[in-house]
Amino acid sequence: MLKQLKQKALQEITEAKDLKKLEKIYRQYLGRKGELTQVLRSLKDLPEQERKEKGKLANQVKKEIEEAIKDRRKKLSVKGGQDKKWIDVTAPGVLPSKGHFHPITLVQREIEEIFQSMGFSVVDGPEVETEYYNFDALNIPKDHPARDVWDTFWLEDLDLLLRTHTSPVQARYMEKNDPPLRIIAPGRCFRHEATDASHEAQFHQVEGLMIGKNISMADFKGIIEEFFKRFFGPDVKMRLRPGYFPFVEPGFEIDIKRKGKDWLEIMGAGMVHPNVSKAVGYSPAGGWQGFAFGVGLDRMAMIKYKIDDIRLFYSGDLRFLKQF
Ligand code: DAH
Repeated sequence: MLKQLKQKALQEITEAKDLKKLEKIYRQYLGRKGELTQVLRSLKDLPEQERKEKGKLANQVKKEIEEAIKDRRKKLSVKGGQDKKWIDVTAPGVLPSKGHFHPITLVQREIEEIFQSMGFSVVDGPEVETEYYNFDALNIPKDHPARDVWDTFWLEDLDLLLRTHTSPVQARYMEKNDPPLRIIAPGRCFRHEATDASHEAQFHQVEGLMIGKNISMADFKGIIEEFFKRFFGPDVKMRLRPGYFPFVEPGFEIDIKRKGKDWLEIMGAGMVHPNVSKAVGYSPAGGWQGFAFGVGLDRMAMIKYKIDDIRLFYSGDLRFLKQF
């Protein structure tokens, strides 16, 4: 009987939601007419031996119930305090969370700043491009095998495509502007490619173009070396290897090397091909010449921030994005 009483009491105590309820439980068991009080009172009518045993047990139960009520009272008092919602006017406020730039945007802006400081303007062109500007004007005619280099997304039933590189901006800009000129054109490009850690169907490039009277590969080398040094730090080394791109002649692949790292291909470049100058209406007699280059912006960002998978840029994963 005492055991059941104890269990019932303890259960009710743990379930008590507030202090009022708890006091009621106290009275119910330990009050003047409480259930346990009555048991204790009835002890005196029992034979001596039984009285001793039962008395011991009953007192133990009383102690346990009192303990449990004390504990519960402590807990409920703390909770009750919180319910009152005290406002600590000296506590620092909660800052509203602010948005921030995507790592690709950050890197694009840094590149823009470096080139702007060297006299280049930033221009842009359409992401949906015509076959003419993406290919023909760049000396890549229809059946030219070089077209296979750029796996193209074509727009159904239209003579349009998603630009496979930023080079068409060169042609568009030259058509509308007379030399001398210095521009860069950052932007998004698309290729119909299987994706993996270093390939995405969408990515970014920065195109560069400088046209003048005596612009040579020596100018290119000086400007681009300065660019890499400012972006990656003064220790960066660069080298040119011959490379083929239909819109330049001669053409080069540019590798960079950072301390303790391997050479890494990062850019294509060369002297603007006469066929491109002709296509945009520059007179061969004008004596204008210059260089062009195209650099992978995602690649630059991956090196800078030590990111090993290009797909992270386009995942929309906040755990990734919040690190910048
Ligand atoms: N458009 C080239 C590509 O997508 C990169 C490139 C190479 C751009 C050479 C240039 C250049 O302007 O001269 O791979």
